[in-house]
Amino acid sequence: MMIRPRRNRQNEVIRSMVRENFLSPAQLIAPLFVIEGKDQKIPIKSMPGYDRLSIDKLVTEAKELYSLGVKSVALFPAINDNLKTANARESYNSEGLNARAIRAVKEALPDMMVMGDIALDPYSSDGHDGLVDPKTGEILNDATLEVLALQAICEAKAGVDIVGPSDMMDGRVGFIRDALDREGFHNTMIMSYTAKYASGYYGPFRDALDSAPKKGDKKTYQMDPANGEEALREAALDEAEGADILMVKPGLPYLDIIYRLKQSFTLPIAAYNVSGEYAMVKAAAQNGWIDHDKVMMENLMCFRRAGADVILTYHAKEAARLLNN
Ligand code: PBG
Repeated sequence: MMIRPRRNRQNEVIRSMVRENFLSPAQLIAPLFVIEGKDQKIPIKSMPGYDRLSIDKLVTEAKELYSLGVKSVALFPAINDNLKTANARESYNSEGLNARAIRAVKEALPDMMVMGDIALDPYSSDGHDGLVDPKTGEILNDATLEVLALQAICEAKAGVDIVGPSDMMDGRVGFIRDALDREGFHNTMIMSYTAKYASGYYGPFRDALDSAPKKGDKKTYQMDPANGEEALREAALDEAEGADILMVKPGLPYLDIIYRLKQSFTLPIAAYNVSGEYAMVKAAAQNGWIDHDKVMMENLMCFRRAGADVILTYHAKEAARLLNN
């Protein structure tokens, strides 16, 4: 035999010499759930090892992440039910939980990258990402854009580096870009949830925030899991509207979408390794059915191989610990 591919795999020095992809804590964004109160750390049942944190604990967690090299966080506030309204006005309250959490992290760690989510579901009594027509139940695209813009400005004022529109309304990237620029926030970045699918993998996240839709589903705005071409169309729009980073969500079942976006666009690509993907790894590992660390690191590396530059993952801290060893 002249050609023996195994020669390139014969020991770790050779393997690491020819390795094609690398994973670093700098590429990870840790999503964090925030609640009201002090000294609160409330476990999320469907996300073993993950908690909702009061702002003081959130800052402690952010500092720990930062020291491990995970210098980026995405904040998701769990809003009290009595503040949820049909118009989701709490979403742009400059003294609300979200704005206070952003300010607290930026105050403690000015160099940490803080990303804020843009969507109405945590603040809406309907549990939808957009405003709902009370008569027809329709999710109102253009009226929602106005609220999303207020939310983006509120987060920018609180100090976010990136806003992440996860709402999937048409035209929102351009609308938010305009609104930010008009207020002088031309450096605030937009990481668009470009290809966000109507997925069953968001279940544990909705438990964490108690944000499931009260009626219906999200299929009129989130994408059909059967579609790939449509992701390219969404990406072209987001690029034209001024997105700085394109994201695919969920992650692992959609590696083909990550790959296609990476091949077709020059913008950085992010992947969201969502709550249900995390829960599956934890559940199987708790049962002794898989090796937790091996599967976690394999999953994260597969995102990189598929073309993701950035990975949002609930594994950020535990993965960084392993990478640093
Ligand atoms: C809200 C939002 C969701 C997630 C991120 N932002 C849930 C949804 O769209 O219902 C899901 C993240 C996860 O499952 O980890 N618009």
